Amino acid sequence: MVTPRLSLALAVVLAAATSAPAQVRVASPDGRNQVTVEIREGRLSYSVRRDGRPLLLPSLLGFEFRGAPPLRDSLRLVDTTRGAVDETWTQPWGEVARVRDHHNELKVSVVEATAPGRRFAVVFRLFNDGVGFRYELPEQPNLRDFEITEELTQFAMADDARAWWIPSNRPRLDRSEMLYASSPVSVMDSVQTPVTMETRDGSTFIVIHEANLVDYARMNLAGPRMENRTLRAALAPHADGIKVRGRTPFVTPWRTIQLADRATDLAPSVLGLSLNPPSVIKDPSWIKPMKYVGIWWGMHIGTMAWSSGPKHGATTENTKRYIDFAAANGIGGVLVEGWNVGWDGDWIQNRNAFSFTQHYPDYDLRAVAAYARQKGVKLIVHNETSGGIDNYERQMDSAFALYRSLGLDAIKSGYVTDLTSEGHSHHSQYMVRHYRRVIETAAKYGIMLDVHEPIHDTGERRTYPNMMTREGARGQEYNAWGGEGGNPPEHETILFFTRLLAGPMDFTPGIFDILIERGTGRPRRPDEPRIRTTLAKQLALYVALYSPLQMAADLPENYERQPAFQFIRDVAVDWDTTRVLHGKIGDYVVVARRERNGPSWFVGAITDEEARTFDVPLSFLPPGRSFAAEIYADGPGAHWLTNPLPVTISRRRVTAATRLRIRLAPGGGTAIRIRPAPAPR
Ligand code: NOJ
Ligand code: CA
Repeated sequence: MVTPRLSLALAVVLAAATSAPAQVRVASPDGRNQVTVEIREGRLSYSVRRDGRPLLLPSLLGFEFRGAPPLRDSLRLVDTTRGAVDETWTQPWGEVARVRDHHNELKVSVVEATAPGRRFAVVFRLFNDGVGFRYELPEQPNLRDFEITEELTQFAMADDARAWWIPSNRPRLDRSEMLYASSPVSVMDSVQTPVTMETRDGSTFIVIHEANLVDYARMNLAGPRMENRTLRAALAPHADGIKVRGRTPFVTPWRTIQLADRATDLAPSVLGLSLNPPSVIKDPSWIKPMKYVGIWWGMHIGTMAWSSGPKHGATTENTKRYIDFAAANGIGGVLVEGWNVGWDGDWIQNRNAFSFTQHYPDYDLRAVAAYARQKGVKLIVHNETSGGIDNYERQMDSAFALYRSLGLDAIKSGYVTDLTSEGHSHHSQYMVRHYRRVIETAAKYGIMLDVHEPIHDTGERRTYPNMMTREGARGQEYNAWGGEGGNPPEHETILFFTRLLAGPMDFTPGIFDILIERGTGRPRRPDEPRIRTTLAKQLALYVALYSPLQMAADLPENYERQPAFQFIRDVAVDWDTTRVLHGKIGDYVVVARRERNGPSWFVGAITDEEARTFDVPLSFLPPGRSFAAEIYADGPGAHWLTNPLPVTISRRRVTAATRLRIRLAPGGGTAIRIRPAPAPR
């Protein structure tokens, strides 16, 4: 008897024998997204359509190896299997509480018809909001240990879509800390993912990224350089040029293609999370989102130093002051940078001299930890590695054990440098392994992570919810430095639709001293660094730019006697529901989120350098109930350049039937808290 699966395989072989192209199709549960996998002249490709319209033209799949022929030619389809999943899982924390993993799966297995006769498979998962696919290399005699020199995956764009991107082949490539450019796909050179694209007719948004990046090189995309519109996977190399070393059986990360009709449907994307394995942390109750302040901004504006001496920021006394401030304002954590030995001199050159256990003499780690505990505040331990990976890995266990013994369960780590001291790119398989090792070790010691200069986020938080947030884009710190000119007013409206689609970002919002004069104690000269937003926009960023560890980044003294600081005290850091109400990439975003385990909603609206007015229907509120809205808006005459400080705080009763009119100044924003109105007395 022939099973249905075998008969399908036979049919496919017959098709190949008659040299007709072998084609297999799979569609998303709603039928809108469709992938066609086919073999033409021995080469395997896939293409993507949405509502019948081609988005990705036939795009090659395969590999090149060192010391072995490419896995690309004379391929023959041998088997296809199908599956379907519809299950909902709950995140321990996030932009949304519940995630529906609803997809159809197609696995296509192929073999080389000629020697060496190697086999591999490509698994496609079709979701209503996009496509994921990955390679599986089964164990086999002619493919054991391998060295990938090129992954041949292509993304052949049907349309010369407009893309928002950061380059992957420039100096500082490792840090992802560039400003976004926008251009047609055809002139892109080499870009990082996620890369967000909008078809020229504005009807479809396409985001290419990856999910579950484990023991592989990070995927960047090599651009078409005017030739055509085909983007190619460009894996970050090891120091010796090899991209990936592995041994079968082996699976690659998922390549993801998120699809949406509107920019506002792009976020929050959960497709990548569903492609990661479920959590391995059985009891995540110790993993808690929180706001934090830190001995940090002072270093960036030059009033404090990481290094020892009179400006040393991380003193016992100063830290206690920050702890007191946090405790008094209901802020959960205090980050302390520059507490550990190694910052004196050139700390990038001297990276292998960093100690992660030894504190400076004026910082009594144990006393500070005890004080924080007594005040109910968490200390966030800073571990800047400067890319001294061996140095960090040697100390990791003993350092994390020490932190744990002191009740310290959060680390902010850092990798400031372009190449590690071992000569590796941040994006290489070597570093992917390192970042993963840190997550696993932190999980073992019960430690939450906030990683700066990280590998890009590919949904690790599903498996390891202690991997909470990371930088991986140009954050607030650039506004402190001058030099490259800080962040323009449109910056955060791009981040929302690009970097934030990968996952949470530790942007560090909340600078109130917009002109950076109070901190330095002298008026600012026009050419000096400053923030290019209004103060109200700094508040709105707490809702717009999601991070489960969310900083109130300014000096505590800059929050004193500031009524607007109440919003930072009140705003939630963990969400049940997220709705993007208005949005245009690079122009504006209006987002509403309901707090996790509570009835309050928060709205954040931000704009670029243009003033804008929005109509915000509060129909997301439950009907028939009265709510109190506290609205923090740009005040009269506010303007990011000329008059950034005025904030008007108003209160009004609202219901689900209310439509709020909100006005954003140029470079401005509005932040709103909506909570159930107290019962009338
Ligand atoms: C860069 C990080 O982004 C920043 O937050 C940190 O203060 C410095 N590195 C020093 O580690
Ligand atoms: Ca940084």
